[in-house]
Amino acid sequence: MGAKVREHREAHSHAKHDPSPLVYDSVFRLLGLGSYHKALVERADVREGQRVLEIGCGTGNLAVLVRRLQAGAEVVGLDPDPRSLARAGRKAGRAGLRVRFDRGFAQELPYPDASFDRVLSAFMFHHLGPEEKRGTLREVRRVLKPGGSLHLLDFGGENGHSGGLMARLSHRNELLRDNLGESVLALMREAGFADPAEEASRATRALGRVTYYRADASSGQPGTGWREGEDGQSP
Ligand SMILES: C[S@@+](CC[C@H](N)C(=O)[O-])C[C@H]1O[C@@H](n2cnc3c(N)ncnc32)[C@H](O)[C@@H]1O
Repeated sequence: MGAKVREHREAHSHAKHDPSPLVYDSVFRLLGLGSYHKALVERADVREGQRVLEIGCGTGNLAVLVRRLQAGAEVVGLDPDPRSLARAGRKAGRAGLRVRFDRGFAQELPYPDASFDRVLSAFMFHHLGPEEKRGTLREVRRVLKPGGSLHLLDFGGENGHSGGLMARLSHRNELLRDNLGESVLALMREAGFADPAEEASRATRALGRVTYYRADASSGQPGTGWREGEDGQSP
């Protein structure tokens, strides 16, 4: 693990602004965020036998849903927050669904090159600073198999504003601003995704604009972030 990531991990474990996993799940239900997850999983079109990674899985709602909708997929959720991961593990256990949860940061994924068919991300990208966003997209590109794809859902988007009530109450404005306009697509291109696109967006009073992005790793032409020959730990 790099020194920067270690520092971040230390800072994250003391993050006071993060809601408790229980509060997060209550807000999640209240705002009906499950419907956003369902749409993301449908867009990702996960098939039997595929390996799926969710980065920033929090309390595991999306990762568990993927496994519920596609029992033949192998699902891994990754997050730096141990409390959320513990809750996620209990949730999967109660549902009798096998999902693996790992502790780690999206900008330093502990997985080998070309080891996942799909990478999913929901309501997580706006938590990252500009360098973390770059690092995360490079890592996602690295761990995706040729023909694999990233499906990302977050506040903002090309025609977005800086988030609805919920987003503004709970997040720093400069991080939300980073998600506006073309910036997410530009970062995806920079990371080596050939033709990333905004697939859809929805706007509500509570959440502001929420956008679905898709980026394919089909070109076989990794970007500058491709760490040739550098294997991560075996998942
Ligand atoms: C708003 S929650 C979303 C959780 C889940 N994806 C969902 O849709 O319910 C954002 C999550 O991103 C995680 N996160 C923040 N920084 C991260 C990083 N650098 N790498 C991976 N996850 C991160 C947080 O710990 C938190 O669990």
